[in-house]
Amino acid sequence: MAFKQDKFAEVIKEFTVGTEALKEIAANFRQDLKLGLKNPDDSSLRMLKSYVGLPTGKEKGEYLALDFGGTNVRVLRIRLEGAGKYEVVKRVGKPLKVDGIYDYVGLGSKCEDMFDFLAGLIDEAVDGDHQTKFLLGHTFSFPSEQTNLDNAKLIIWTKEFATEGVEGKVVNDLLRDALKRKGVDNVEPVAVINDTVAVLLSAAYKQDDTRIGSIYATGHNTCYLEPYADKAEPPMILNLESGGFSKLAPNRYDKMLDEASEKPGEQRLEKMVSGRYMGELFSMGLAILYDDARWRYGFTSIDMSGIIADSSPDKSEVVRIVSGRVGKEPDAAECADIQKLAKVILTRSVRLVTATFVGILWQLAGEGKLGRQHIAVDGSVYEKMPGAKEGIMATLQELLGEDAAEVDTILDNGGSGLGAAIAAAMAEG
Ligand code: GLC
Repeated sequence: MAFKQDKFAEVIKEFTVGTEALKEIAANFRQDLKLGLKNPDDSSLRMLKSYVGLPTGKEKGEYLALDFGGTNVRVLRIRLEGAGKYEVVKRVGKPLKVDGIYDYVGLGSKCEDMFDFLAGLIDEAVDGDHQTKFLLGHTFSFPSEQTNLDNAKLIIWTKEFATEGVEGKVVNDLLRDALKRKGVDNVEPVAVINDTVAVLLSAAYKQDDTRIGSIYATGHNTCYLEPYADKAEPPMILNLESGGFSKLAPNRYDKMLDEASEKPGEQRLEKMVSGRYMGELFSMGLAILYDDARWRYGFTSIDMSGIIADSSPDKSEVVRIVSGRVGKEPDAAECADIQKLAKVILTRSVRLVTATFVGILWQLAGEGKLGRQHIAVDGSVYEKMPGAKEGIMATLQELLGEDAAEVDTILDNGGSGLGAAIAAAMAEG
């Protein structure tokens, strides 16, 4: 299995997006936003209503928060103290899948089992107290159609979740039933929000001038506060489901990955940018370089982080990670190329994500000037991938020119939990 040096330039080119192409993507994203505001059927963005605006920052009280949507589920008890302050009183969490032991998300997993697992975790978070009344905010991070703040029906699983019997159902009804089965019906779900909405609520609780919230992690998605300036409706946060944006130019790896995924044709942007998929793209690129028909080396975005971060002279981390997955030690020249491949895939991801931010910023500015503002972001890719945050800032500058000085991104770590508690408070208030 020799490393095909001559293929390297080609692979790198396939993952490169230039400035003009990127500007076009930002413009197309804005166009899809406009179309979606009139009629979501005409747009690749679902533009889902959340039935919630921004908090005042004065919300108070103790609430339960269920954060469901990634590899781990968390339940928190959070005391909101107003003035943007809060305290996490209790935190429990468990993975949704432990290899060889249980799996609530893979093919063949069942709705009731999954929700019983969630109810069990909630029971732990209330220390088995079946008397005191608790209001619960639920961050449910999948495309859901809402009719009010508490009623959200799962449209379709994303991020390779495959649990049977949940699509098309009202998720808080499923949760209520499971709580009843566990005897924890003193816990009352009162709000359900997307994780992007949670991040925006959480950031806006603490700080003004934040109208865009985004997740850049296992999945990728963004929401913003739609002002409905020309309508009588009050401002409302719209969950764009921007991972579904499809006016893009997928390369052959993107196409291969999509075809092999749980839901071919769906989540085209997400499959090009998010943590769940970047490692697979990297595996595919590497398989071409090794001229190896297999591409399921199983690289993760955490592996990519390790590879990118390795600045040691002998590239010992690159060697360790790659030989662990591929079964072959790369030499020094190969290590340099492998590192470049990881960087180029991450860079494309960062640039595409930033282009969608710019599309939203343009839409919010309309004909006027871009207002001073923060984009709240949470997620492991943003937080932990070396260079991701800096890459976003550089791309904002590239696309917005001097207007980029008006905008920055802020990490809203743990926003998914805090946002759920705030939503519960807003539902009550
Ligand atoms: C996926 C989900 C979306 C969520 C995002 C981040 O894109 O469809 O609802 O916000 O992942 O978790």
